[in-house]
Amino acid sequence: MNDFGFNIGSVRLKNPLILAPLAGVTNLPFRLAAKRQGAALTVTEMVSGMGLSMGGEKTRRLMATTPEEKPFCVQLFGKNPDALARGAEIAQEAGADIIDLNLGCPARKVVRHGSGAALLRDFPLVERILNKLRPACKTPLTVKTRIGWKPGEGEVTDLVPILRDNGVDAVTVHGRYAVERFGGSANWDQIARVVEKFPGPVIGNGDITRPAHVLTRLKESGCAGVMIGRGALGNPWIFSQTLDLLHGRPMEPVSLTERFSTAEHHARMLGRHVGEGKAVFMLRSVLMWYTKGLPESASFRQSINRERNFETLLAQLEEYFAGIDDEQTRKAAAL
Ligand SMILES: Cc1cc2nc3c(=O)[nH]c(=O)nc-3n(C[C@H](O)[C@H](O)[C@H](O)COP(=O)(O)O)c2cc1C
Repeated sequence: MNDFGFNIGSVRLKNPLILAPLAGVTNLPFRLAAKRQGAALTVTEMVSGMGLSMGGEKTRRLMATTPEEKPFCVQLFGKNPDALARGAEIAQEAGADIIDLNLGCPARKVVRHGSGAALLRDFPLVERILNKLRPACKTPLTVKTRIGWKPGEGEVTDLVPILRDNGVDAVTVHGRYAVERFGGSANWDQIARVVEKFPGPVIGNGDITRPAHVLTRLKESGCAGVMIGRGALGNPWIFSQTLDLLHGRPMEPVSLTERFSTAEHHARMLGRHVGEGKAVFMLRSVLMWYTKGLPESASFRQSINRERNFETLLAQLEEYFAGIDDEQTRKAAAL
């Protein structure tokens, strides 16, 4: 049976669905929630090559993983070839199965230092980085990029020969120019042009929020896989439901019981991962995602925004879910 899987170098992905790196979001508990619902690969948020090479403990913690997560990818950012190569070695010691280089982040604090999407304006430096990074990686090496810096400058189609000739195993393309940041909509025609030019697998990314989008995008672009970011916030089931669709099975709806237990499990893992005190603050957004669109979710969110105690917060979560039922939820969704 076709599992729609593909290889990135020597690493086999069991299906085409990958969780995108999201800085400040895709920590270990988030990534494991996606893995449990079937994501074939998870990627850490971007990790500073320089931070790793300087021995930064906080930076290192971004790569915390468990055997359950395998295979997982560490995304590095930076512009210093030696630091990135050293960072890649440390990431492999930490268990990375794939190393990814960030060539797409448009955030001012990253671009200002010449990293992320700024590298699209300096192809010779990309080449120098790959010259150091490729031999430092025993794992497959991938890059994640935008379709260019801006129309006519740093176009990814012009970058492809450099990636191909320097041993990059797969390319992820977010279908926006860097200058667009997150505006407008992702241009999948441009992604398809990379598929035509790059000899290895291309992973398409941008604006996938529903399982049906995955099928259309894979078919129309010719991509080997897709990366899903914002569509997975509070919704790890986007992976399991897409797998249902790919395999022609009826799409399994998510019951409130499952939504609650997944959110609670995520919260408890976060409590263990970062400490309960810090988790209380981080959970404000995490629980907002999990309860989005549910009845009375606005007042629930307001009440947890004032909460400072981890256990009381979880009690509030339980109470909230106990107070709504599937019937109400269906009605709220129909409104
Ligand atoms: C909050 C946030 C953080 C992000 N952090 C990263 C990052 O660390 N590395 C990266 O390559 N892309 C990052 N991205 C971009 C996403 O990986 C992805 O390319 C983009 O959100 C488009 O995909 P989507 O429409 O599925 O979300 C981030 C996006 C958001 C919204």
